[in-house]
Amino acid sequence: MTSSPFPDNFLWGAATAAYQIEGSPLADGAGASIWQRFSHDPRLMASPGDTGDVACDHYNRMESDVALMKELGLQAYRFSVNWGRVLPEGVGRVNDPGLDFYKRLVDALLEQGIEPLLTLHHWDLPVALDDRGGWLNRDSADWFAEYAATMYRALDGRVKKWVTLNEPWVITDGGYLHGALAPGHRNMFEAPIASHNLMRAHGAAVAAYRAEGAHEIGLVVNIEPKYPASDSAEDRAATARAEAYMNRQYLDPALKGRYPKEMAEIFGEAWPEWPADDFKLICQPVDFIGINYYTRNVVRHDPNQWPLRASPVKQVATHTTTDWEVHPPALTDMLVWFRDIYGNIPLYITENGAAFYDPPVAGPDGIDDPLRADYLRTHIAAIGEAIRRGVDVRGYMAWSLMDNLEWSLGYSKRFGIVHVDYETQVRTPKRSARFYSEVIASNGANL
Ligand code: NOJ
Repeated sequence: MTSSPFPDNFLWGAATAAYQIEGSPLADGAGASIWQRFSHDPRLMASPGDTGDVACDHYNRMESDVALMKELGLQAYRFSVNWGRVLPEGVGRVNDPGLDFYKRLVDALLEQGIEPLLTLHHWDLPVALDDRGGWLNRDSADWFAEYAATMYRALDGRVKKWVTLNEPWVITDGGYLHGALAPGHRNMFEAPIASHNLMRAHGAAVAAYRAEGAHEIGLVVNIEPKYPASDSAEDRAATARAEAYMNRQYLDPALKGRYPKEMAEIFGEAWPEWPADDFKLICQPVDFIGINYYTRNVVRHDPNQWPLRASPVKQVATHTTTDWEVHPPALTDMLVWFRDIYGNIPLYITENGAAFYDPPVAGPDGIDDPLRADYLRTHIAAIGEAIRRGVDVRGYMAWSLMDNLEWSLGYSKRFGIVHVDYETQVRTPKRSARFYSEVIASNGANL
């Protein structure tokens, strides 16, 4: 019997996002989001026809979903608010029925003793704001701060952990550079502007929190550790570019008040001179950083790969159905890397999980997903190792509580620890959920 490396107050939970699970995106006076528009255009979706119209019908099943969280023993639940439910035009008029849904969700969680972690923006920008330029418009920082303050006033008494943005890198890389995600732009000149305005929006929302809120606020980034494919100077330089682009493009300005020097090299003439004052807004003290970790990358120099001039080298290893290599030691490395570069800021793993093929029919013990259970076990153990090495990790949120809309990839990629039958909306815990319940009950001992 080994003792647990996890502190007694370590927070164990699971995560979701509004557009991926709620359904009823236009109910009760909500304004449409860019994901509503994107998913209804079959030319844009990699999985045409899959939309968030029904998803997991969580909007109508919220109470029973919270009961399920309780049954699994979750101590925390990370969810996001659909901005347009609360402010249908993005700014101005508040839509009380939409806000009320999130008030009821928070009440239900607290009644069950489950701590809410509220993400203000998980990609569903109101179309009313996209039509005004979205994240390309410098006013977006003020729009976001107004929405954030509305939420703080409504819920700060009950929500003690707030997240400004989820994965700004994915918003700009997928949404503005490569067009694979909403709003579907492919423009090298736009991507840096969208990134910068997202960071200004983050800073403005933190500043608004300091004026209104009494608890904790942070930023969630996705980090994918980069390892050079060889010792050659070219591969090492390619790895440094990939790391700056994906892993430090948002953390450096938020925590150090400047961009990595590689950004200008990567974007060339598309990388603007930024007003120095912007960094005062962006670099606000935060209470924690949330990290979403799924995989690592081995990187080689590749002159044909635009704009990074770097490509991943596929490894001989288990891969998920999203083709991501399973490599838990990189999670330990990454947490130590974070502490060494940015200091011992409190960290939460705000997402970690895997899409695997699940048998469609449940056996006597539920849906059998041994690969996912093993993914959770080895990654949680990797976090334990980082804690042993002195990194201040305070919580873990499995992605995801239940199968859901994997954005443009649709419903075929199942990340849930709970299976969702989309015909009947029946939820069935998988073996990974049962395993995770035991992890929670033992506070991560004996992995
Ligand atoms: C990160 C995103 O935040 C989440 O929405 C997505 O479903 C997972 N990664 C899996 O790709």
